[in-house]
Amino acid sequence: MAKTVLITGGSGGVGSALTKRLADDGWQVLATARDPRAIEPRDGVVAVALDLTDEASIAAAAATVHEHTGDHGLDGLVNNAGVIVQGPLEEVPAVELRRQFDVNVLGQMAITQQVLPMLRTARGRIVNVGAPTGRVAIPLMGPIGASKAAFHSLNDALRMELRHQGIAVSLVVPGALETEIFAKAAAAAQAAGPASAEAERVYAPVVKAATERMADMKPKPVAATVKAIRSALTERGPKARYTVGSDARQLELVRRLPTRLRDRAVMAAVGLSRIPSAA
Ligand SMILES: NC(=O)c1ccc[n+]([C@@H]2O[C@H](COP(=O)([O-])OP(=O)(O)OC[C@H]3O[C@@H](n4cnc5c(N)ncnc54)[C@H](OP(=O)(O)O)[C@@H]3O)[C@@H](O)[C@H]2O)c1
Repeated sequence: MAKTVLITGGSGGVGSALTKRLADDGWQVLATARDPRAIEPRDGVVAVALDLTDEASIAAAAATVHEHTGDHGLDGLVNNAGVIVQGPLEEVPAVELRRQFDVNVLGQMAITQQVLPMLRTARGRIVNVGAPTGRVAIPLMGPIGASKAAFHSLNDALRMELRHQGIAVSLVVPGALETEIFAKAAAAAQAAGPASAEAERVYAPVVKAATERMADMKPKPVAATVKAIRSALTERGPKARYTVGSDARQLELVRRLPTRLRDRAVMAAVGLSRIPSAA
């Protein structure tokens, strides 16, 4: 019987490439999107509707997973869906902050809880897709960073809680990738608008400097991330963490610096050191 994996965010940049790769390898892939028509039809792929902000949708998706796995259980869960909420923290609307945590943290935990009995049956594996912003706080990336830091922490607790059950848990931390996630984040920030004219004025130089620096960012193709997730699902003795890309690896080094030095390195990297301090 083919192994079965559930991939959340199967319609996105990483998720669609991973879905294709695992289906080509012979896996049965249950790939999720809020609108299942966003999943490209192909042999071995089942499109599953899943909105991580909606409890009923999560329960229905878990029931669909059970229908497709039966007595064998589920061999893999890839918690890959994610959104970025960005901007100066003073300006981020509460509803956006809540969406950030609903999708990236609470929804991912809820689907994990629902399918864990199926993973236990098959002695399956969990792969959680994190982000460097969850390893080192980055200005204007506070919401996404906080959600990923929480997600990383849950990942670590799960890894230890599930060890005696034979369920391996791995975290994959990719650097910047060529997907639509940043464009979606910019569009959502634009739609939310500034909190107030004063906030817009106060943060304008910071936003301008960071936006200019972001334009210099060189996102990488998703292939190496797909490879790391595939390794975590298949290799004997999967690693606890896969850090993918030179930018993600550099941030791991920055993480080890004393706080003041780390702040300086991060602020220089995002273009904020050019802005004079009022102190
Ligand atoms: N791209 C990067 O630079 C980068 C770097 C580090 C880490 N990551 C992480 O990699 C993962 C994949 O990101 P990506 O770059 O592939 O992003 P993407 O192309 O924007 O895809 C995001 C996926 O998340 C799904 N999603 C969004 N809101 C959802 C919701 N409410 N319920 C269920 N699913 C929802 C989307 O599905 P819909 O079709 O339903 O919208 C889509 O499939 C994320 O966890 C991200 O944080 C990305």
